[in-house]
Parts: sequence; C-alpha cells; structure tokens
Amino acid sequence: MSDFAQDLFARTVAEPYRTKVVERLALPARSDRERILAAAFYSPIHLEANDVYIDLITDSGTGAMSDQQWSALMRGDEAYFNSKSFFAFEKSVRDITGFSRVIPTHQGRAAEKIIMELLVDRGDIVLSNTHFDTTKAHVENRGGKPVDLVGDWLWRFDEPSPFKGNVDLDRLEVALERYGDRVPMIIMTVLNNFACSSPVSMANLRDVRRLADKHDIPVFLDASRFAENAYFIKTREGGYGDKSIADIVKEMMSYASGCWMSAKKDAIVNIGGFIATNDERFARLCQEKLVLYEGFYTYGGLAGRDLEAIAVGLREGIDEDYLAHRVRLVATLGELMEQAGARVSKPIGGSGVFVDVEAMYPHLAADKLPSVALCADMYLEGGVRIAAAPFLMHRVSKESGDVFDQVFQLARFAVPRRVYSKSHIEFVAAVVGKVKETARENRGYRIVEMPEILGHFFAKFAPLEA
Ligand SMILES: Cc1ncc(COP(=O)(O)O)c(C=O)c1O
Repeated sequence: MSDFAQDLFARTVAEPYRTKVVERLALPARSDRERILAAAFYSPIHLEANDVYIDLITDSGTGAMSDQQWSALMRGDEAYFNSKSFFAFEKSVRDITGFSRVIPTHQGRAAEKIIMELLVDRGDIVLSNTHFDTTKAHVENRGGKPVDLVGDWLWRFDEPSPFKGNVDLDRLEVALERYGDRVPMIIMTVLNNFACSSPVSMANLRDVRRLADKHDIPVFLDASRFAENAYFIKTREGGYGDKSIADIVKEMMSYASGCWMSAKKDAIVNIGGFIATNDERFARLCQEKLVLYEGFYTYGGLAGRDLEAIAVGLREGIDEDYLAHRVRLVATLGELMEQAGARVSKPIGGSGVFVDVEAMYPHLAADKLPSVALCADMYLEGGVRIAAAPFLMHRVSKESGDVFDQVFQLARFAVPRRVYSKSHIEFVAAVVGKVKETARENRGYRIVEMPEILGHFFAKFAPLEA
C-alpha cells in the first residue's frame, strides 16, 4: 500500500468492510434512563440490552459475523459424531495454532474448567501475567491460588511501555524459586485483557518459557485475543515488522505446551472455544472431561454450524487489514477520551480503552464505589454501557517472595469487533466529556448485594444520599 493510502486509512479510520445488515439502535429519553438505571440496581450487568444505545461492556461474543461466516453456517453438519464441520474447525485451528490436537468447547470458561480440573490441586499456585476473572475463579474453585505477575507498570497509566501485558520476569524468578514445586502451570494471557488489553511481547513469551523449562512447568496460552497480540508484536517489537501475522502466531504458540481460547473474541463468533495441544495424552484426558461436561469431543457443546463459523472467523481474525482497522478504531476512542478529560492507560491496547476511575472521581473514596459511579454516569448521560470494578490481584513481592493483595481499579470501554463506526466512537468520547464535567456532583454508591464468587456479575447498588 502507498504511504498516502496508509496515511489516509490511519487518519480516516475507514473500514475494510461495508454494511450488509443493520440493527436499529435507539437512545431512551433521559427520564427513562434514570428509571431504567434504578430498576437495574445501578449495575450495567442488569440493564436490558434493548435499553442501551452503545454497548461497550464487553468485546466477547458481540462481534459482527461476516458474509462468509453466515454462509458457512449453512454448511453446518449436525451429525452427532465426527461431523464434516468438526474437521473444517479442526483444520483451521491446526493451521493457525500449529497444535495437532483440537478439542472444541462451548466457550472459554468451559475450556478453563477442564484444564484446571486436570492440572490444579488444592494448595497449588498458578502463575500468570494476569488471570482473567473466570480463569482466576476456576483456579480458586480447585483450591489453588492464582498469582498475577504483571509488572507495576500496569498502575502507571502514563508510562508508554509497548508491552504492559508482560510478566515481570524478576517476579517470576522469585515466585518459581519460592513456590516452584507447587506450580502446575504458567498461564500467559495474550493479549492481557485485565492489564488494560495490553500485549505480551515475543521476547517475554520466550523468557517465560525458558524459566518455566528450568522448573519443568508447562506454559499455556489463554489465547482469546491471540491475533490482536500478534498485530502488536508486528507493529511494536523489533524484528517482526516484515513477518506475517500467521507466522507470528505460530511463533507465539511455539513457546507453549498448549492453549485455550474463547473464540468469542478473535475468532469473531458469538459462541465457541477450544483447547489445543500437541500432547496426545493430555488431549485424551481433556476429551474424557469434555464428554462428561460438554458433549462428544467433535462438537463440545457447539452446533456444527458454530464450528463452521469459528473455522472461517479464525482466518478472518488474523487478516492484517482487519486488525489494523480494529487497533486504529480502539486507539481513536482512547485518544478522543483523553481529549475529553479522561486519564487513559497508554499506549492504548487491543480490545478496549481502560480509564483511571479515581482520576475521574477524585472526591469519591474507594468505599463510595467510584467505578459504579462511572458506569451509572455513562448510562445516564448517553445510554453507553461499560464495565468497571475493582479487581483484586494476588501478587508476589520481588523482595520477600511473599504473596500480597493489590487492587487494580478497572474501567473498561471494550469495543465489539466490526460493530461500531467512528461516529459511534466519537459519540462515546463526547459522553465521557460530559461525565467528566459533571462527575463532582456524583455522591457515590453503596453495595446492596455482592456474593463472594464472581460477585460483580450479581451485584446490586444504591446511590448514597447527600
Ligand atoms: C482473557 C480471557 N480468558 C477467558 C475468558 C472466558 O471466556 P468466555 O467468556 O468465553 O467463557 C475471557 C472472557 O472474556 C477472557 O477475556
């Protein structure tokens, strides 16, 4: 592509696709939004999707499938055993990951349940750059302790390190020395969702594997956003600029014993997932669990048509034009939000923009729930739904090796794939500007209900009175 064309794409954020089907959206009136939010107990999770104008609560399963994927659905072979669709799916996963054994699951956490059951026992310590919340919950469900080894740079929003999703290698060394014999696996989340959607460098994956090998510990990739991670390696890491995304993905996978994926992200489907590995024995154990929980090992809780859509979506997910546009769109949101007065984590990551909630509501102490305030204000001002919650991480001290708790205040504006235009993004940034202007008037919230495990999915809140 010429420099002029490249510059034009970067400036205009023009899409490498056009619209074929549309879905009507409407913004409820302000007075309705107030009533709707109160009825949803001030939690974005309880809002009805129909009452939301722009939904940035997750990029998971919310992408728009392509014409090719919709046509692939028609090829769905619904045979119970060994359907044609399974083999199309298996080939796509094999071609892209390089792993030979492929086990479909209905989504990411189904894969996590199986892997944790096979590998994690009571008292184990699972190390990761950052566990996603369901990953963390599955480790805990087995009686293990999930420990997050992302560096302190995560809390330094203005520090523009290109790979903030990395494991802090000093912490990993300390953790392996102290707890090595209790560590059944190391999980590398690529890209690192809860660490501001930041990527992991190839050098970091290589180093983690080297250290893991010293202790004979397997490394697994939580590869839900592997393609976005590969794009950042191509554009941010020296030596990869001329490599194809496909080759970069293969190299990433080569440092792991296996991976699992929620296909609802980078395979751009509404449901699906898988486990992949070269280890025959481990694959067989996964298949046995799969039959118990999900269905036969050639469909894993999915319909044949879902497998077909994943097979196509995985290939579309590594298309460089698509990835370049997606990353530009998310970056545009981040830049506009920053101009509107939000403090955003930089450099802006793959699947969404992360905002410093405390900087938005400096007058609200943590017990007044500033993240609930931000979600509520985004909905009240513009019908925009986002996710925000304090996320508790177990960390390892570099000095003593002791495990301690640290909270990361997380407000994520996740961008669904191929769904929203630049105008929608501009709308969201304008709402952020309005929220910033009026934030001081927010008096905060209190918890009405919050169960212990994955509590944010069930939580209810109420506004604090003056
Ligand atoms: C990094 C990561 N791992 C695992 C999961 C769980 O996947 P699922 O929602 O498909 O169960 C998610 C979901 O958002 C995720 O972001």
